[in-house]
Amino acid sequence: MERLPPWCILLMCLAVATADPLPQYYNAIFSFGDSFSDTGNFVIINSGKLPNMPKFPPPYARCSNGRLVIDFLAEALGLPLLPPSANKGTNFSQGANFAVMGATALDLKFFRDNNVWSIPPFNTSMNCQLEWFQEVKQTICSSPQECKEYFGKALFVFGEFGGNDYSFAWKADWTNEQVKGMVPKVVASMIGGIEAVLDEGARHVVVPGNLPAGCIPITLTVYATEDASEYDPRTGCLKRFNSVALYHNALLRIELDRLQRRRPESRIIYADYYTPYIHFARTPHLYGYKRGALRVCCGGGGPYNYNMSASCGLPGATVCEDPDAHVSWDGVHLTEAPYRFIANTWLKGPYAHPPLASIIRDDMVY
Ligand SMILES: *[C@@H]1O[C@H](CO)[C@@H](O)[C@H](O)[C@H]1NC(C)=O
Ligand SMILES: *[C@@H]1O[C@H](CO)[C@@H](O)[C@H](O)[C@H]1NC(C)=O
Ligand SMILES: *[C@@H]1O[C@H](CO)[C@@H](O)[C@H](O)[C@H]1NC(C)=O
Repeated sequence: MERLPPWCILLMCLAVATADPLPQYYNAIFSFGDSFSDTGNFVIINSGKLPNMPKFPPPYARCSNGRLVIDFLAEALGLPLLPPSANKGTNFSQGANFAVMGATALDLKFFRDNNVWSIPPFNTSMNCQLEWFQEVKQTICSSPQECKEYFGKALFVFGEFGGNDYSFAWKADWTNEQVKGMVPKVVASMIGGIEAVLDEGARHVVVPGNLPAGCIPITLTVYATEDASEYDPRTGCLKRFNSVALYHNALLRIELDRLQRRRPESRIIYADYYTPYIHFARTPHLYGYKRGALRVCCGGGGPYNYNMSASCGLPGATVCEDPDAHVSWDGVHLTEAPYRFIANTWLKGPYAHPPLASIIRDDMVY
């Protein structure tokens, strides 16, 4: 682990420093989610369809300057970086990544029915990803028994989901109360999706929560306000967006606990993006983020260096020379440095409940 904050000596460094390397435990990883874990699907699905779509040969096509949490998990678990599921003809026997930039937990129909037109007409929602999973399944196992055994030895990472659902609603000018009203639907949809993979034989499922949307530079730029009371003075983040993320995460944890009780043979892990991000925002220097948590590395000017008309990848945007000193890569997604930090905390604690390494060790003992 790099850039260990000083307090870490007390809380977690010893555990990290003395931890044995993780044993090879899983045969594969299957990942579902959005741009925080997309390892190429968006680019493959849209190549030739969207104007100005740059070409990214593998292993690129990620929204970051390097690896994502899912990549660090694969590396730590001794598996190859996950191939995007849209890459037809790939051998997916060691896993597949169904995550796509922009994906939502709710289907397109929900947004259409509720008159939300800010969502592009992509069919990439959680349920679409579960359909793609069925196609991939046919290429890696045959009998129901064989498939169940195979998925029982795989790791499933289910999320992040929800961040896009809420952001499309905010974009459609929904009120705080209306956006909060979506949360139970989003969480119920996710629980249904997790039950679907458990029914396929999955035993270990990592479920990431939402990031603090109010700390993301695009939110801070688009919803900037003169009203100082809208900002949390400890972080500079916009409180109302964070409060939806907090509510989502709290409800998700309650429902995951319930699901765990209904499915005692499985291990369901809540993985926390929110808390580490808030720590970065409060005390960025402790983590090595000299440019802070709210300033964008690849951007086009403005108070947070985020400019919608010159966002990362568009003419007018420039890339900083010290991405590791920034939390935010492009105004929405993180740089590799915080992703690496967060992945380690999900593997070894303290930001996964329970940490992945502890359930692997439990399972190997019993
Ligand atoms: C896919 O890869 C696995 C090992 O990773 C191998 O055992 C299997 O034979 C391969 N399948 C095909 C169809 O090539
Ligand atoms: C998405 O799926 C719906 C329902 O299956 C279909 O009507 C629509 O054409 C699809 N849209 C795209 C862009 O593929
Ligand atoms: C945002 O980008 C546009 C296009 O490059 C530019 O004209 C504008 O000045 C930029 N705004 C800021 C605040 O830097």
